[in-house]
This record gives sequence, structure tokens and C-alpha cells, in this order.
Amino acid sequence: MNLLSIKNLKKYFPIKNSKLMVKALDGITLDVPENTTVGIVGESGCGKTTLGRCILRLTDVTDGIITFKDQEIAHLKLKDFRKYRKSIQVVFQNPHNALNPRMKIKKILQEPFLIWNNGDNLDIDLKIKSLLKRVHLDSTILDRYPHQLSGGQLQRIAIALSIANEPPLIVLDEPTSSLDVENTADLIDLFIDIKSRIGNSYIFISHDLHAVQDISDTVVVMYLGRIVEKGSKEDIFNTPKHPYTKALLASMLNLEDEGKTKIPEITGEIPSPINLPEGCYFHSRCPQVMNICQKSYPQLVYSGSDHYVYCHLYG
Ligand SMILES: Nc1ncnc2c1ncn2[C@@H]1O[C@H](COP(=O)(O)OP(=O)(O)OP(=O)(O)O)[C@@H](O)[C@H]1O
Ligand code: SF4
Ligand SMILES: [Mg+2]
Repeated sequence: MNLLSIKNLKKYFPIKNSKLMVKALDGITLDVPENTTVGIVGESGCGKTTLGRCILRLTDVTDGIITFKDQEIAHLKLKDFRKYRKSIQVVFQNPHNALNPRMKIKKILQEPFLIWNNGDNLDIDLKIKSLLKRVHLDSTILDRYPHQLSGGQLQRIAIALSIANEPPLIVLDEPTSSLDVENTADLIDLFIDIKSRIGNSYIFISHDLHAVQDISDTVVVMYLGRIVEKGSKEDIFNTPKHPYTKALLASMLNLEDEGKTKIPEITGEIPSPINLPEGCYFHSRCPQVMNICQKSYPQLVYSGSDHYVYCHLYG
């Protein structure tokens, strides 16, 4: 069953003193089933964070529909959306910004329970202890302030906050990008462990394709505000179809296969989202570009039951 269903989502940012718009999301349609991790990849500026922010209602959508558990949420008044915040949580890249520097960790961790009126004080203390256990921290940190914790510990506190009320959906926007390799691997294991315990879904946004491969069930590839390919992790990593997906993966493989023949990586500048090109948005950089690519945007083509691609090569 789908937990979240997004239909033709658009987010355009107006540019001051101009009629032009930044088309950050230009028609995203995507389902997130229950207990599923959807990895979102694509170059900087393709709209990954904006997509997460629309789902969390941190920004208003320009058009389209977002349905969470049968309730349309994209156009709900913010006061009516508030009750869904408990169910749609987020972990951002930088935990320093997410935690109040003037509060001790204990107070920070009490907040989600107090806000949602979840238990008396004794009960909350027990819940905090169990939360800390879940994110592999010991209770000696409760008396410290955020600046007295390492980056990895801080991100674990941010994760603890996000799972306090066992939400069905957590948006992870580059949650490991400020951490070293060891901490990244530990947190990926932690996310997987949390999902197996509480049965939630993740939207996992990352530039780290190894982490995406480790954690995701489904992978979505975005380019200039649109999805260009979507499939199971195996589809995307073993049999990618779109030339852009192949180029993204090439950068990962080239790093690993030193000495072997290099797969050509993507070159050229990404076009401006203010002035989107005619035809396929990728045509100016595509090694397999054809005449038709400059004239019309490709239709969706299924390559397997859950694997689809937007590319004229398969039309
Ligand atoms: N508040 C805003 N006002 C104007 N343009 C914005 C705003 N927020 C984002 N954008 C633009 O929308 C596009 C998508 O940005 P977004 O942050 O979603 O990309 P991203 O895929 O998350 O990139 P990164 O990988 O660098 O985090 C970019 O062109 C960005 O400049
Ligand atoms: S539609 Fe054409 S330009 Fe776009 S990715 Fe496919 S082959 Fe390349
Ligand atoms: Mg981003």
C-alpha cells in the first residue's frame, strides 16, 4: 500500500523584479509504499531538497497533489497539517542547525514527547533512555549541551528526535554528508535497523551512491526538476537505462575500478532551471543524443513492471 503518493508536483520559485521563475520541480509523480526506502539521486540543484521540503510543507507547492495515507496534504492549511508533523519527520544534513544550542540534550529529547503529549515525566525518562539505546548513545550525554558532542553523536540525537514518535515516514536529506566514512557506515546500519524495528519508510536523499545502494529498495534519478528514471535498486545499479543514470553511476564505478577502461562521465554544464531547454532536458550533455531529443520531451517507457525511464532511445 502507498504511504505517500505525489502527482505532478511543481515548485516554481519566482525571481524578484522579474517574470521569470526557477523551475525547481517540474512535474514529479512518485509513490512511496509502506516500509520502503526510496533513494533520490541527481546532481546538485536538480530539486531533491525542494521535493523533501514540499512533502514536509516547509515550502508551499506551486501545483500538484501530495497524498499521505489518503489525505491530500499539499494544500492543507498549515494549522490542519500540524497533526501530520508527528507522522512525517526529517533529518537534515547539519545537526548543528537542528538542535537548540542553549538546551541540554535531555531537554531536547523531552520535547517531542511533551509536544505530542506522550506520557508523564517518569514515562518520558524511560522513553528517552530507550531512544538513546536505539541510536547507540549512552545516557551520560543527557547532561551535555550540543556543542559538547561530536558530529556523529549530534546526528544520532537528531535521528532520535525524528523517531521518538515512531513516524511512518522520515525524510533524510543528506544525513551523512557531514560525517566521515566510519560514521556514515554506522548511521546507514542504524537507519536500516530502525526501519526493521518500526516499519517506517524513508525518502533518502544523497550524493553518496554507495549509501543509496546500501539502504534503498527503490531508486529515483532526478534531472532538472524531473524524474528521468526509477526502478528497484537492482534495476538502477545493475541495468540502468537512461544515459544520465549511466553517467552518474560511471562516476562511482570509475572511482572503484582504477586501471580499467573508464566509462565516460558526464560533461558540460547543467542547463538553467530558469530557462529549461526544448526537448529532453539532458540533450545538451547526452552522449547518445538524436535529432528528436532536441524537439520533444520523451514519454515514459516501462522497462520492467516497476522500472521506467524517460528517454527516446526506448520509445
Ligand atoms: N528559496 C529558493 N528560491 C529560489 N530558488 C531556489 C530556492 N530554493 C531552491 N532553489 C533552486 O531550486 C533548484 C533546486 O534546488 P534544491 O536545493 O532542491 O536542489 P538539490 O537537488 O537539493 O541540490 P543539492 O544536491 O546541492 O542539495 C536550484 O536551482 C535552486 O537554486
Ligand atoms: S532522450 Fe535523447 S538526449 Fe535525452 S537521454 Fe535519451 S537519448 Fe539522451
Ligand atoms: Mg539539497
